[in-house]
Amino acid sequence: MCLAENAARLASLGPAGIDLNFGCPANVVNRHGGGAALLNEPETILAIVTAVRRAVPAHMPVSAKMRLGYSDDSRAIECALAIADGGADELVVHARTKTQAYKPPAYWDRIVDIRAVVNIPVVANGEIWTVDDAPAAAKPRVVTC
Ligand SMILES: Cc1cc2nc3c(=O)[nH]c(=O)nc-3n(C[C@H](O)[C@H](O)[C@H](O)COP(=O)(O)O)c2cc1C
Repeated sequence: MCLAENAARLASLGPAGIDLNFGCPANVVNRHGGGAALLNEPETILAIVTAVRRAVPAHMPVSAKMRLGYSDDSRAIECALAIADGGADELVVHARTKTQAYKPPAYWDRIVDIRAVVNIPVVANGEIWTVDDAPAAAKPRVVTC
């Protein structure tokens, strides 16, 4: 797999870690099956992360970034589990789909759902502008009626 070969080459240059981007929304990337397009194929994400993890020295962190999905967030948990099960050390979640692009809001509640099922650190990303936003992005919203 090209990604694993490239990761091994990168690792030989001595980086702090290898980061995989399953969040890129650029059409030029997505139409070739890269970035957020892979969020429609959690099984491919699992294969990629597994192959990259194996290709990189064990002491070197492998991290990954994802969005919540391509056109909807129905497979967000599957994608997050694929990343964790593939052996990633850390997961960054940009809490929007590709279709949502960079439009507010970011759906931080879904980050909480993901944190509940994966066994690796999860970093919240998206629409965090103030010091107060940061803890809010990491906690379930309290809904009052
Ligand atoms: C012009 C632009 C370029 C970006 N390039 C990258 C990138 O190379 N890698 C990456 O992981 N995220 C990239 N992002 C996404 C941001 O890191 C971040 O996930 C996104 O903007 C959501 O955070 P925000 O709501 O605070 O903007 C880019 C965003 C923008 C607007």
